[in-house]
Amino acid sequence: MTDTKNIVLTGIRPTGALHIGHLVGSLQANVDIQNQGDYVRMYGMIADAQGLTDNFDNPDKVRQNVMEVALDMLAVGYDPDKTTMFIQSEVSELTELTFYYMNLVTVARLQRNPTVKTEISQKEKFNGGVPVGFFTYPISQAADITAFDANIVPVGEDQLPMLEQASEIVHKFNSIYGETLVMPHAVVPQSKAAARLPGTDGNAKMSKSLNNCIYLKDSADEIAAKVKTMFTDPNHLRIEDPGNTTENPVFIYLSVFAKPEHFAAFLPEYAGYEELAAHYERGGLGDVKVKKFLNSVLQETLRPIRERREEFARNPDKVMDILREGTKTARSAAAETVMRVKRAMKLNYFD
Ligand code: TRP
Repeated sequence: MTDTKNIVLTGIRPTGALHIGHLVGSLQANVDIQNQGDYVRMYGMIADAQGLTDNFDNPDKVRQNVMEVALDMLAVGYDPDKTTMFIQSEVSELTELTFYYMNLVTVARLQRNPTVKTEISQKEKFNGGVPVGFFTYPISQAADITAFDANIVPVGEDQLPMLEQASEIVHKFNSIYGETLVMPHAVVPQSKAAARLPGTDGNAKMSKSLNNCIYLKDSADEIAAKVKTMFTDPNHLRIEDPGNTTENPVFIYLSVFAKPEHFAAFLPEYAGYEELAAHYERGGLGDVKVKKFLNSVLQETLRPIRERREEFARNPDKVMDILREGTKTARSAAAETVMRVKRAMKLNYFD
């Protein structure tokens, strides 16, 4: 470990099983940061309270997915010895901070938040009106980040407006009440393809509701069946036809997941992705062969993750112990911040 003072916070909503889009969009990057060790503390929060903001009518869903997401996190390599894994709602200090930060944000500013705007327009259930809890979740997210003095927040691109909003809250708090909160910085995964993996149906987004996901917990047979029916280039009808690789999810997945050792093991007649893609584009390469290769690549990639997941799933008490311990640690850090915040706001009557 180096002598940096970095504090890293990552957060995931427990509203569904995690899929390979999450893996390349954030999970892998989080594990890499964890294993590089350039921090004094790293947190992995399961954001169940935030999950409830648009699932308040379905508490069972959120409850069940806390365990599912914890298993997914452990399966991809979150290490409780390095990352403090905890449950958001068990740190009640976070709701307290949220209430104070609400004074620092205008309704107009929340209405302009692009992520909130998109989400509201996409949710049928909000047709009758947007709940205040959902509307203000960016403020609660600022509480999540600042409660732990996190200066590094690894996120997907869609979360940048949240980080911008959190920075504004920090700036405003510090300028009114004095230097108290740590300014957070977003870290976004580098590769463009990784930032947004398309669905197996070619849809731009992998999403549970579209039924186009390959999940981390999928069995070998489920993966094989999904790859077999994947969307490719609809104009690539005969093997001799030239094919498109850039809008073709099979090739996009290969560009992200296929490593030199996969080519060596399963497709040694090609040196690597570039050669394979060039052959498909010029014509003479069939979808079946490419899909077979993709299946082998995904099987190799996901098998160790699935096996680790199954091991933890046999031991749910151990997983709950990890979360209980992590939550205890997180809670004492957040309690210190709340004291600091209240002192700054002159709410420290009994000191
Ligand atoms: N909004 C994030 C998501 O949907 C989850 C989240 C909640 C989060 N609180 C956070 C992410 C704090 C980073 C920091 O993925």
